[in-house]
Amino acid sequence: MMPERVFLIGFMGAGKSTVGRLLADRLGFGFVDLDAAIEARSGRSIAEIFAEDGEPAFRAMEHEALLEYAGLKNMIVACGGGVVVDHANRAVLRESGTVVYLRVTAEEALARIGDRSTRPLLSATGGGEIAATMLLRARSTLYSSTADITIDTVGSEPEAIVERVSEALEEIDR
Ligand code: S3P
Repeated sequence: MMPERVFLIGFMGAGKSTVGRLLADRLGFGFVDLDAAIEARSGRSIAEIFAEDGEPAFRAMEHEALLEYAGLKNMIVACGGGVVVDHANRAVLRESGTVVYLRVTAEEALARIGDRSTRPLLSATGGGEIAATMLLRARSTLYSSTADITIDTVGSEPEAIVERVSEALEEIDR
């Protein structure tokens, strides 16, 4: 039996949204991307929310969105890369479903992201590899310790990652 809810966590560019959508199709689950839900609700882009209201306001919206979707069944939830920074969010993730950490290097994340203007935390810092590496380093323990399953995505296409996530989900269910 599959878990009722799967949360995808990991750094920006890890493939949470792409993999999440494919995984949802495969399992017949619903899919939500928390960033997209926040954008739809506020009528603004993530970059605009950061610029106009600041990061703390965005984090509050992210927490609300997480709480809302953590209550729905048969869902794949792609979380923003910073969701694990908040202690309360980590507790919600762990208590509400199976948490899958998609691991990526800073170098590959930046290559996948391409246009960094949609990622305020990268564009504001100049978006260099050093900034991304430091942010990733600061968070990697939080990602690992929150996750039930860790999948290394470096060098893999989304379809192959989905395959491995599905296998791992079946595996921990036994
Ligand atoms: C953030 C990641 C972004 C978005 C926001 C902050 C972060 O989501 O929530 O820009 O703190 O790492 P993605 O991981 O989907 O890019």
